[in-house]
Amino acid sequence: MNTTAEHKSRCRRLMANTDDLHEDLHVLVDRFGPFKAVENYGPWVEAQYIFQQQLLGLYEDKQVAELLPDAAHRSRLQAAAKDLAFLGHAVPTVDAVPYEKDLPLIEALAWLFVSEGSTLGAAKLIKYAEALGLSANEGASHLAAESPAARMTSWKQFTAVIDGLQLSDAEEEQMLAAAKAAFRNFRTVLEQCFEKPLAA
Ligand code: HEM
Repeated sequence: MNTTAEHKSRCRRLMANTDDLHEDLHVLVDRFGPFKAVENYGPWVEAQYIFQQQLLGLYEDKQVAELLPDAAHRSRLQAAAKDLAFLGHAVPTVDAVPYEKDLPLIEALAWLFVSEGSTLGAAKLIKYAEALGLSANEGASHLAAESPAARMTSWKQFTAVIDGLQLSDAEEEQMLAAAKAAFRNFRTVLEQCFEKPLAA
């Protein structure tokens, strides 16, 4: 795949074209209230753990690493696992991925776009978590960044890769469809984590 700086605004287009799905997540997060009370926070971390577990194969993908050498280090699976341990919340089993085997690279990048983009909202969410008495070392490490500057640098490095891809119109559509699928998948995961019956 060729890369070029030609399509500088691809990430902005992806953001704009998934804005309704992002907004849906806001509404859902408001409804489930993970940051309103610490009792509601466990299912949120569980959802994050499941999403990161689903994405692990993409973060560790060799083709992804060629474009984004630090991709494997970006996974927040271990952070979510640490947060679940801190909360004493059970670690869910994830035995299937919500995308096809051998996902094309641009679709893999679109799924990662949703995960990496979620670190932007996390800058706000960690403040809400802190208001619940949590912190980067105590239950909220999956929302943490070394610093606000590091968070932005990491995002800029990621968007530079996405924006640098040279894609046909059909591939642009393919990428958008994959980003939408990733947003919808997170919605499903969130619903499952918050709406499952409480253990007896
Ligand atoms: C699983 C995926 C995602 C989830 C669960 C998520 C969730 C959220 C939530 C709940 C907020 C609101 C924070 C507040 O109360 O102000 C937020 C804000 C935000 N999100 Fe997302 N988001 C996701 C993906 C993305 C993506 C893909 C992007 C961009 C590419 C993005 C960009 C932002 C930005 C820029 C904000 C505003 C942050 C601020 O005001 O400081 N998010 N997100």
